[in-house]
Amino acid sequence: MIPPRAVKGMNDVLPEEIGRWQHIERAYARTMSLHGYREVRTPYVEETSLFVRAMGDATDVVEKEMYSFEHRGDGLTLRPEGTAGAVRAYLEHAVQGREPVTRWWYAGPMFRAENTQRGRYRQFSQLGAEIFGDDGPGCDAEMIAMLVEFLQSLAVPEVELVVNSLGGPEARSRYRAALLAHLTPRQGSLSPESQRRLATNPLRILDSKDERDREAVRDAPTIREFIDADDREHFSKLLTYLDALETPYSVDERLVRGLDYYTSTLFEIKGAHGKLGAGNTLVGGGRYDRLVADLGGPRVPAIGFAAGLERLLIASELSAAASTTDALIAPVGDAAVAPGLEMARRLRRFGIRCEIDTRGGSLKSQLRRANHLGVRMVLILGDSELAEGSVQVKDLEAHTQERMAREPALRVVVDRLMAASRSVDPPTRSERP
Ligand code: HAM
Repeated sequence: MIPPRAVKGMNDVLPEEIGRWQHIERAYARTMSLHGYREVRTPYVEETSLFVRAMGDATDVVEKEMYSFEHRGDGLTLRPEGTAGAVRAYLEHAVQGREPVTRWWYAGPMFRAENTQRGRYRQFSQLGAEIFGDDGPGCDAEMIAMLVEFLQSLAVPEVELVVNSLGGPEARSRYRAALLAHLTPRQGSLSPESQRRLATNPLRILDSKDERDREAVRDAPTIREFIDADDREHFSKLLTYLDALETPYSVDERLVRGLDYYTSTLFEIKGAHGKLGAGNTLVGGGRYDRLVADLGGPRVPAIGFAAGLERLLIASELSAAASTTDALIAPVGDAAVAPGLEMARRLRRFGIRCEIDTRGGSLKSQLRRANHLGVRMVLILGDSELAEGSVQVKDLEAHTQERMAREPALRVVVDRLMAASRSVDPPTRSERP
């Protein structure tokens, strides 16, 4: 029989890799709490109509990439992104009545039936956030500068921020007409996909990577000529604030994004071009000042972003995070198992993550296990140690080994691991023995 395999584009994350995932997830949670955001968790499944209304029915995601299904008469979809669900939750719980400004962050899996390649999967994880109730450009600038700094803290090379302003729906429809007037005479030279988009969503042609489309839009009008004075002022203040925060950016008047809800500020951050390729954006976001009202709520301005966690993992040059186990207890033979279990329990009470091989196998195989886990300390309980109530303390980092009575041995292990943890992670250890 053929053993089962994971679904295409949906990947396992094995314990060997989980350290880097957790490092980024923790760093993100910490960054967000430093900036006044609180975590929200919304369901992985929502009604299909929510995504169609929020993202627009002529977007790639809604047209081709949603995992939708019927269940007992309901049309449901695995969430392809987090904004629609966040807005739905914000409205459903009438959050605007309780606080003027709401800052939410989230992390979790999203689902899109895309063609898979490096950095593009069918189940992927986003680190995202939404702010409701603040329409000022200072809010945009703070969010964007925070993201650039976050990527830098993850040692992502070649971080590159691009910003643009889309204006409101009125400006966009005037621009759409002008773009159509420019592109219709060139229709024959567009890619087949863009010929189709001309009728449904011509702005997306600006985003196309196809050389024929790029040529056709080269001297097309830009959105800037169509946006109104308020949006223009908002954008120019945003740039001033980014300058004040010393956040380098470039303005790309052709930047549009794949979802229909955006208005005004738009941004994308790329990085690590060599590893990710030019098409793979790390973070995308922008304002969606009309969406809350469009979904039936009051007029509440909003802005948000999402970063692809798998892409951050590819882009980040941080080395593998510290091991997930600190110490291994190695009882050699059956008689050593009980005192070994007792020592493991004592160490865990001090917050030391330890493993014990209760099979009591050979020392050689237990040391191999210690190396595999990347632990620093090994406590060996052989026959002679058992006889005299001692233990061998092996420090794999300092390359030392000493025989000690059990009490002082525990103290040495806790001391060394605590000192090491102070230089990496904030210690969670309770007290010293
Ligand atoms: P998005 O641009 O569709 O925006 O996705 C944001 C990020 O998710 C991308 O830049 C990328 O890093 C990651 N991503 C998207 N699709 C995939 C995929 N198939 N595989 C791996 N990573 C992927 C949104 O989702 C908006 N909800 C962002 C937002 C929040 N705008 C306002 N608020």
